[in-house]
Amino acid sequence: MLQSLHHISIKEHHTFGIDVKAKELIEIHSLKELIETLAFHHGEKFMFLGEGSNVLFTKDYDGLIIKNRIKGIEIVEETDNDIVIKSYSGENWHQFVMYCIQKNWGGIENLSLIPGTVGAAPMQNIGAYGVELENCFIQLEALNLETMELETFSKEQCQFGYRESVFKRHLKNQYFIFSVSFKLQKKPISHIDYGDIKLRLSEYGIEPEKASIKDISDAIIFIRQSKLPDPKILGNSGSFFKNPTVTKEHFAKLQEKYPDIKGFDQTNGVKIPAAWLIEKRGWKGKRVGNTGSHEKQALVLVNYGQANGPEVMQLAQSIISDINIHFQIDLESEVNII
Ligand code: EPU
Repeated sequence: MLQSLHHISIKEHHTFGIDVKAKELIEIHSLKELIETLAFHHGEKFMFLGEGSNVLFTKDYDGLIIKNRIKGIEIVEETDNDIVIKSYSGENWHQFVMYCIQKNWGGIENLSLIPGTVGAAPMQNIGAYGVELENCFIQLEALNLETMELETFSKEQCQFGYRESVFKRHLKNQYFIFSVSFKLQKKPISHIDYGDIKLRLSEYGIEPEKASIKDISDAIIFIRQSKLPDPKILGNSGSFFKNPTVTKEHFAKLQEKYPDIKGFDQTNGVKIPAAWLIEKRGWKGKRVGNTGSHEKQALVLVNYGQANGPEVMQLAQSIISDINIHFQIDLESEVNII
């Protein structure tokens, strides 16, 4: 039988660093171990956890936490131009990105240094610096928790959206993501138009057009490290809220009142950086007890060491109502609240 830990603190198992306990925790290293664990604990409350980089625990977890340690990377198909590569879901995302960069396979370099596992990445279609996971995604294998059969999901079946997939919506809690396959390019096309990437490359003395995927990854790692707090030092779950999309009319009204407001045109309206709204209302860098909005990125809520979940939720609620009153926008959490 697998080793299971009872009534243990899971502070070290998630990046917000909140000191809560789980009734039981088991680490699984293969599909076989997972199926055995689920059979043994049939009918009990459980949840999967990768590296816990997108969750906020508001109380002790009265059930079993199954920690995914299923590892491995395999080449599925290779041509002169591209490669299809499959990673098992318990691999660390950034290490997987680094493995691909070292081989000079391009496509996910803009997603360097995103915390979490490969399996969690398609759940919320991770994205950063102008690239989303769906851009390189081919398919995934997931265990149907009802039938215990492995099923394959195409890109269409995953129904990716902005920080969205079918696994967060109507198939929520019904599947375990086992492996994810990507198509990467041997002659990569760079995405360097977002934010400060070009500026950073020139500071390295690199002409942006000649930048290798390693150069781009280095620039992104630098930018992320300069703005986003390191969870080992200051607990956090990255962006706490999603960037909201409002109608064009709503945006025009806001623009009259706030001429400096930022907005990015979408097919269904205008996407506004939540960080801008939060900063505008004076929350950036503000500390409330043991928590606060980060001084360098207003969208990131942090744990100054002793925060508990309800305290973070209270701050999130205060921000949500303040933004609602002043901009008539409802911010939605990007983090899974447990
Ligand atoms: N901004 C502010 N104040 C701030 C920070 C940013 O006004 O404190 C403004 C900036 O001026 C900029 C805009 O907001 O024009 C966007 O800022 P940034 O590029 O930092 O991106 P973001 O929209 O705040 C999103 C993702 C991040 C991702 C970055 C970079 C979401 C919810 N977040 O943040 O993802 O790293 O873009 O691409 O979409 C995460 O999901 O956990 C995450 C960190």
